[in-house]
Amino acid sequence: MAGITNIPFRVLLRDFGCALAFTGMISANGLVKESAKSCRYLHSSPMDRPLAVQLFGADPALLAEGAIIAAYHGADAVDINMGCSVKKVVRTGAGAALLKDPQQVARIIKAVRKAVGLPLTVKIRSGWRRGEIKAVEIARIAEDCGADGLIIHPRTADQGFGGKADWGIIEAVKRNLCIPVIGNGDIRHPDDALRMLELTGCDGIMIGRGALGNPWLLGETLSHLSGRDMPHSPSFVEKENVIARHLEMEVDYHGEGRGSRNFRKHLLWYTKGLPGGAKFRGLASSLKGKKLILAELRRFFCFLSDNGYESFVRNIDTCPRYRKSLKPS
Ligand SMILES: Cc1cc2nc3c(=O)[nH]c(=O)nc-3n(C[C@H](O)[C@H](O)[C@H](O)COP(=O)(O)O)c2cc1C
Repeated sequence: MAGITNIPFRVLLRDFGCALAFTGMISANGLVKESAKSCRYLHSSPMDRPLAVQLFGADPALLAEGAIIAAYHGADAVDINMGCSVKKVVRTGAGAALLKDPQQVARIIKAVRKAVGLPLTVKIRSGWRRGEIKAVEIARIAEDCGADGLIIHPRTADQGFGGKADWGIIEAVKRNLCIPVIGNGDIRHPDDALRMLELTGCDGIMIGRGALGNPWLLGETLSHLSGRDMPHSPSFVEKENVIARHLEMEVDYHGEGRGSRNFRKHLLWYTKGLPGGAKFRGLASSLKGKKLILAELRRFFCFLSDNGYESFVRNIDTCPRYRKSLKPS
């Protein structure tokens, strides 16, 4: 997910069992022109493996060159984005706009296939707009042109992220392909993952937004799929520890200012649905720096465990455990 799946987030998710992570989409043109921003997105670490680099673009030669650059920088696999519906991207003929041009899809996949020997996947949507479902046609082209796997998010580009993902399209794609098919869309609970696998016969699942603020979903899903008991929901202590670890990694990677600013969105996701979470989120946007965020998290979880955060907001100094945690040791 562009702007979200950076090294710290990927490493965190791997701890919860994520088997394969992808970079957010990277402009092939940017890589070829050596844009610092695009090249930064290729950064990885030994803990961040295996890593698939996702490229976007509309020009077969540029995408092929981008794939060579990604391979040179150690990518374990290359994925081509044919699903992004953002205006800035589709205006250039890239992302989901390619679903309107099957011949260009073929040219792109052939060129990238010829350029690199790495595993090559293609991520598509159902089609450009409702009533023009092209998933099976495009998926077959991908297979015929040498893709090793196909990832399908079964919404049309004009749906954006609205409505429901139509898992029937995953099933149709799977039925028509020999290469592995990865299903994606609306997995928010381990049961969703099991249902997607059972209903569509797909070979693997990809989780996107469900992991935001809930990396536990990955471990819970793996347990559920292997027939083991689902782990208990994380305790407040565990939640606090994971959030703090994620923040530490962001700050280590980006530095104090950018890391803690970047982290605000994760704080909003982590505290969604928790009692008093809305109040915490109101405060979170004004927290500057790791220390302040950690201290506020401490208070939040301390009061959640003891009295509920609402009572903290009413009664700022009354939590004995919080006062104790502030005492110098
Ligand atoms: C903020 C955001 C950024 C995304 N960036 C990308 C991207 O760079 N490449 C991509 O293939 N899909 C991207 N997606 C789409 C997701 O990968 C996924 O296909 C979609 O959210 C549906 O799956 P989900 O219901 O599990 O989230 C993005 C989605 C969101 C919400």
